[in-house]
Amino acid sequence: MKQVPKTKIKLTETKELIHQGYNLLRQLREDVDAPVVKAEFLTEDITAIYGEEAARKFYKPENFTREGAMPKPVLKTLFGEDGVQTLDGKEHHHRKNYFMDLMTPDRMEDYRKILDRNLTTELDKQHGEFELFDLANRVLFNSICEWSGINVDKYDLKTLDKLAHNQISMISGAVTSPTDHIKGITDRNNSEKWAQDLIKEAREHPVAEEENRALYTFANATDLDGELLPIDVAAVELLNIIRPTVALTVWMVLMGHALFAEQDVYDKLKADFDNLQDPFIQEMRRYYPFFPMLPAIAVNDVEINGYQIPKGSWVVLDLYGTNHDERTIASPEQFDIERYIGKAKDISYEEEYDMIAQGGGKFREMHRCAGEWITLHSMRVFSDHLVNKYEFTVPKQDWTIPMDQFPTYPNSKALLFKD
Ligand code: HEM
Repeated sequence: MKQVPKTKIKLTETKELIHQGYNLLRQLREDVDAPVVKAEFLTEDITAIYGEEAARKFYKPENFTREGAMPKPVLKTLFGEDGVQTLDGKEHHHRKNYFMDLMTPDRMEDYRKILDRNLTTELDKQHGEFELFDLANRVLFNSICEWSGINVDKYDLKTLDKLAHNQISMISGAVTSPTDHIKGITDRNNSEKWAQDLIKEAREHPVAEEENRALYTFANATDLDGELLPIDVAAVELLNIIRPTVALTVWMVLMGHALFAEQDVYDKLKADFDNLQDPFIQEMRRYYPFFPMLPAIAVNDVEINGYQIPKGSWVVLDLYGTNHDERTIASPEQFDIERYIGKAKDISYEEEYDMIAQGGGKFREMHRCAGEWITLHSMRVFSDHLVNKYEFTVPKQDWTIPMDQFPTYPNSKALLFKD
């Protein structure tokens, strides 16, 4: 077995790793001409792995743990502390079940209907030029709150707008300039305060027959000993539903790019919508950059692609690199709307390791994203509206997607014009 080669490239800030991560990890691999590479990051070494085999091993608990692996700046903004992402073993399984129990087919259908209605209302109101980013942000926030049992009618429009935007700045504030990071922390603190008040209210005034809503699920959730979760932890988990759903704003803007930056994908999809809608969505999830990588710590010596990763190593799994891996994916740099015909369903419902935009493995036992089905429904509703239900003209704009910012989306935020 070979030793992991070390690149001469040194990474001195978290921001370098996460921001440029989409291409950076590939550059590191190319530098040493190996699929596994080690680099000096802050004061430690970090080992980057990618591809289906690496992902399969990354998710095995006998190989890697998540505990202590996530850099603090990311926890303070993106995830929040003590949430499901930071747990392992039985505790993780117990907490994750609360999330997955919300995602029943009936509740997914409820979500689809709510989003469909809210998007129709917003698009009907729209005349002239508008940013898809802003519209999607508003609609996704209102829809996920409604689905979660949060009454948004009591807030004025300005407060709603602020709450919706906070969900995105928690993400962009994860690893960025010091000012954006401070804003990310402030916005997370404000969002957590908002969510804590909601949890308190739900505990004090439970509403009959709302038990299967996210708000009441987390208000009533317990730890392994049967004790109610502390309010701040329950609030972090409620935000683990709200924040990433609102972050789907980014994918809706990328969808704008896929459909409107050039005409051919739109034309193909419109001509055969029923057959191509899900393959289009899966190819979007694979092709566009979103979540760059995941960290973990090796709990045993692990062999990956013939290289020995020693116990205790800090490792990142390159998600973007795995989704663009030439060893398993044909012409990965091409957007191929037909790539997943016949396979689209399996990807998001079976154990999965080669297309891992939202993580891989099994939903309940592993850290795979709890929101993959909400994501699919959101993308189905948006693609149906953008392609079938409404007509738009496309103003001239800057469609460039910078590869050195996180999260990334077209500079123009997808401008559309509707009569
Ligand atoms: C833009 C779409 C999304 C992307 C790219 C995304 C990506 C991810 C990734 C990469 C992970 C980590 C997987 C791992 O650690 O192995 C994750 C975990 C998670 N996601 Fe998502 N996600 C998205 C949408 C959602 C939505 C809509 C929800 C909720 C409704 C959600 C809830 C979660 C939760 C709760 C976890 C933690 C799971 C665990 O630790 O067991 N995500 N997501």
